[in-house]
Amino acid sequence: MRRVNLDKIQSGAILAKTVMTLEGRVLLASGMKLTEEYKRKLKANGITEIYIEDEISKNLHVPEVVHEEIISEAKRKIKLMMNNPSIKTSIDGFQVMKIVEKIITDILLNKDIVANLSDIRSVDDYTFSHSVNVCILSLIIGIGFGYSGDKLRELGVGSILHDIGKVMISQEILKKPVQLSSKEFEEIKKHTIYGYELLKKTKGITMMASHISLGHHERLDGSGYPYQLRGNDIHKAARIVAVSDVYDALTTDRVYRKKLMPHEVIDYITSLASYHFDQEVVDVFIRYIAYYPVGTGVILNTGEKGIVKKYNKKYPTRPVVRVVMDAEGKMLSKHKEVDLSNELKYRIVEIWDI
Ligand SMILES: [Fe+2]
Repeated sequence: MRRVNLDKIQSGAILAKTVMTLEGRVLLASGMKLTEEYKRKLKANGITEIYIEDEISKNLHVPEVVHEEIISEAKRKIKLMMNNPSIKTSIDGFQVMKIVEKIITDILLNKDIVANLSDIRSVDDYTFSHSVNVCILSLIIGIGFGYSGDKLRELGVGSILHDIGKVMISQEILKKPVQLSSKEFEEIKKHTIYGYELLKKTKGITMMASHISLGHHERLDGSGYPYQLRGNDIHKAARIVAVSDVYDALTTDRVYRKKLMPHEVIDYITSLASYHFDQEVVDVFIRYIAYYPVGTGVILNTGEKGIVKKYNKKYPTRPVVRVVMDAEGKMLSKHKEVDLSNELKYRIVEIWDI
């Protein structure tokens, strides 16, 4: 299977993964044939991408770092919590801990942790999907640093609630599709402080979580907010969440900009290591994140085209590629498999937007 943009798929394609709403309702079941009407239905629900199974992606397995059911449940619970008006005065810290514990258990069951975040999200669910993804990515970095037990749980709670202060900001500002005025932007920046205050008084939540909320927009060179803190004055956990926050935000389609590809965002984050982001955090992050996720279309230096079949942990930029088209643009009747970590004459030069 592979992930494709709805606008790029012809009717008749076979759906490889069930598409569900955040409330757990099935929109379209796996195995169904896509029709124009189904496409409209998906779009009406804010879905812009789906997984399909076609000839070139047959038997391609997209690994999940956390099971989809657990991700959906976490998103659903976070949505319920954030939409409850009582959130402005108190948060159920124990409930959040339970969600995080499930995610941690699932990540740790994986022998080979590589974030290949494959969830299909509706553009309307951005806030909740973002919270859960940032939590998963931060936990992976935490595990990479050797965190375990309470420290890992606290990192999980803090990262899933990193933007909780936004519940104190008016929807009008948060959802504004046009550029914010400087006064409005100053208000948005305060979500860090609001979150810190809210988490500080929450039972069952430790100071680490409050510091994550306060410090996740601070940057090492002092160019962040709200206090322009520098270097070690920013809590280490907040420096972890800064990276996962930016990664997830930039790899997601928003109303005001198109998403970037994972490798582009990794390059961007790497270029800012030690200026904006903690070098150690970036080093760990790139070890655990798929540079070219399974299913990505790629063009090789030979002109051949294919899709990424498997990630090579040791050589993130050199995955195993299933070549499906020759340099002349002719589809191969028999696909060829090239492991770029062994065959050094090959390299990926471009993304193949299929
Ligand atoms: Fe934030």
